[in-house]
Formats: sequence, structure tokens, C-alpha cells
Amino acid sequence: MAGGKGERFWPASRLARPKHLLPIVGDKPMLTQTIERLIGLLPVENIIVITNSEQLEGVRDVAPMLPDANIVAEPVGRDTAAAVGLAMLLVKQRNPAASMAMLPADAVVNDADSYKSALETAFKAAESSASLVTLGVQPTEPATGYGYIQCGPVKEVIDNRDIFSVRQFKEKPDLETAKLYLQSGEYFWNAGMFVWSVETISAALSEFTPTLMTGLEEIESGMNEGKDLVALLGELYPHLEKISVDFAIMEKAENVLTLAATFDWDDVGAWPAIERQFPSDRAGNVNKGEARYMECSNNIVVSGEDHLVALIGVEDLIVVHTGDATLVCRKDKAQKIKEMVRNLGEEE
Ligand code: GDD
Ligand code: MG
Repeated sequence: MAGGKGERFWPASRLARPKHLLPIVGDKPMLTQTIERLIGLLPVENIIVITNSEQLEGVRDVAPMLPDANIVAEPVGRDTAAAVGLAMLLVKQRNPAASMAMLPADAVVNDADSYKSALETAFKAAESSASLVTLGVQPTEPATGYGYIQCGPVKEVIDNRDIFSVRQFKEKPDLETAKLYLQSGEYFWNAGMFVWSVETISAALSEFTPTLMTGLEEIESGMNEGKDLVALLGELYPHLEKISVDFAIMEKAENVLTLAATFDWDDVGAWPAIERQFPSDRAGNVNKGEARYMECSNNIVVSGEDHLVALIGVEDLIVVHTGDATLVCRKDKAQKIKEMVRNLGEEE
């Protein structure tokens, strides 16, 4: 899934170059890292990227290892449930008995071996009991930007890993609720990495999002008639119901299982997240690119290697300089960047 807007990373992230097409962390774009991390688990011909038409060229640039037909563009984004539905149709065309993993392009994971091994177990779990399997991360704070998974009893043990039944899935709770979840010790964060068979996810889409499924079936009929995919999506995709897979399916389904993501995991959702990924100086300043500080603490500076940013006497700021725009924002207002970008509209 690589069709998000990444608005919170403005001005580095733009409509045609959102965060997953940028090397925000590491020296390769996050999407490239996501694809490379899967090598060894499955052949590249089996990796499909669902993006949107604005980002298509950018995706091709950062994913040259994929066959052209494996990069599919939505004419407009209809959120992740529709992207899951489209991916399901594409996999089904190849093999209706297949299982598939839906993976985000914006996760930072360094331990690729452990990641692949957890996914392998997730595939086995999804197949052994026709379930929707999601990977869970041990929470460290009452974050409100993630889904929460309440674990039930261990249902089975596969590859020495506990596979838990899921009591409840709650997408992005408010702070009070997140605090209670954290205290209870019963919850994982949802890593947004899902594994299921074509059959199981089709059944869930039919049951919980029948309107979306009707739209998907129309697309499928067109595919079966051999119609051109771009034209077909252009005509039908914009009418699909717009909802995330977390709200549409995961909060409602009962056949959900989870296992611990035993690899390192981070979601770089907004600029403050890069503090976890880069070393800081003694005063807590973190920079990516050239920066100098005088009497400063806890700032984040992002600039090109050939552009020096100097700060004097300021604290808790985010300063991002790009070729055509500069952001200066208080750290505790980083979530507002999205609003600013929306206000900028066309200028952006
Ligand atoms: N193709 C496509 N189309 N991809 C999309 C779309 C869309 O309309 N919208 C989002 N994506 C992609 C994003 O680029 C990202 O790779 C992935 O789908 C997840 O979307 P986000 O928008 O980043 O979701 P989130 O981070 O707010 O929440 C999800 O991930 C969290 C973990 O990072 C949820 O699954 C949460 O429950 C989870 O905790
Ligand atoms: Mg995300």
C-alpha cells in the first residue's frame, strides 16, 4: 500500500513525492526499503504496489525491480479498504487460492530476517484457520495514531510463536482510552501489516462492506471480460466507498488473530518521529543535513547537504528547508502541518 499523502512531512513530502518515495530514514526511499525487505520471502513478480496516478511515475522510479504490471495506480485514493479490495482482485486473477500480505510502505524495519520470519508464520496462521492475521507491536506510550489490538487467549502455537485470538480491535483511540489500554497490558499496537487468504478477505469485504464489495465485483467483471485495467479503474474506482481497512474490516471481524512483531518497528508518521531515528547532540538537537546550533535545545532540522541552517537561542522547533519551501513549526504543533498543507491547496 503506497498511496498515502504523507502530508505531515511537508514540505519534503509532496503530492507526487509523498513520504514513502523519500529517503526520510536511511538512504533509500521507504517504499524501496519495503520491497527489498521482502526479497527472499517471495519472488519480486509476486510483489504488487498499489499507488495512485499522481505517484505512479515516482513509484516506478523507486521500484525499478518490479515488472510494470505490478505497479497499479488508483485514479484517486479511496483509502485502504478499497486498496485492499483492488489488491485482492489482482491476486485473485493470478491465483484464487493464494494468500496475501497487505503491507504499508511507511514502516521502518531494520531486521529484515526477523520480519520475514514473522510474516511466514502469519501466512501459516491465516491459512490454518481462515483468519485475518495482523501483526502486533508492544506499545511503549499511549499513542493515538495507531490501532490497538486486545489479545485474547493463545489460540495456537506456530513456529514457536504464540498466535493470539483477538478480543477487540480499536482504530486510533483517544488519549484517555489509549492510556487505559496501555495500563491494562492486554493490547498491542497494530503494525498495519495484514495477512489473509483471498477467500477470507473477500468474505470479510462482502460481510462488512457490501457496498464496497459490489463496486469491486463490477471491477472484477470488467477484468474477466479482458477490459483495459486503467480504463476500468478510471471509470469505476472513484465511486468505491472511501474507508480504511481498520475501520471497515478489522474493527468488525471476529476471525482476527495476532502475533507479536518480533522485529524492530517504527512508524514515521510525522517529523518528531525522526528524533528516534537519528542521533542527537548533547542538547537534544537532531539534524538531517547541515545545521549549526547556538544556545539551542531539542530542535529538529532537516535540510539538504548543500544548505546550512543555523539556529540561535531556540528550542523545540522543527525547521525543514527544501528547494522551494521552508517550514518552521513548534514541535508540539507538528500534527497541524497536515492542516496547513490542506490550506495551501493548489499552491502546495
Ligand atoms: N494505495 C493506497 N491508497 N494506499 C494508501 C491509501 C490509499 O488511498 N491511503 C493510505 N495508503 C497507504 C499509505 O501510503 C501507507 O503505506 C499505508 O497505506 C497505511 O496508511 P496510513 O495513512 O499511513 O495509515 P495510518 O498510519 O494512519 O494507520 C495505519 O497504520 C498504523 C501503523 O502504522 C492503521 O493500520 C493503524 O491501525 C496502524 O496502527
Ligand atoms: Mg502510516
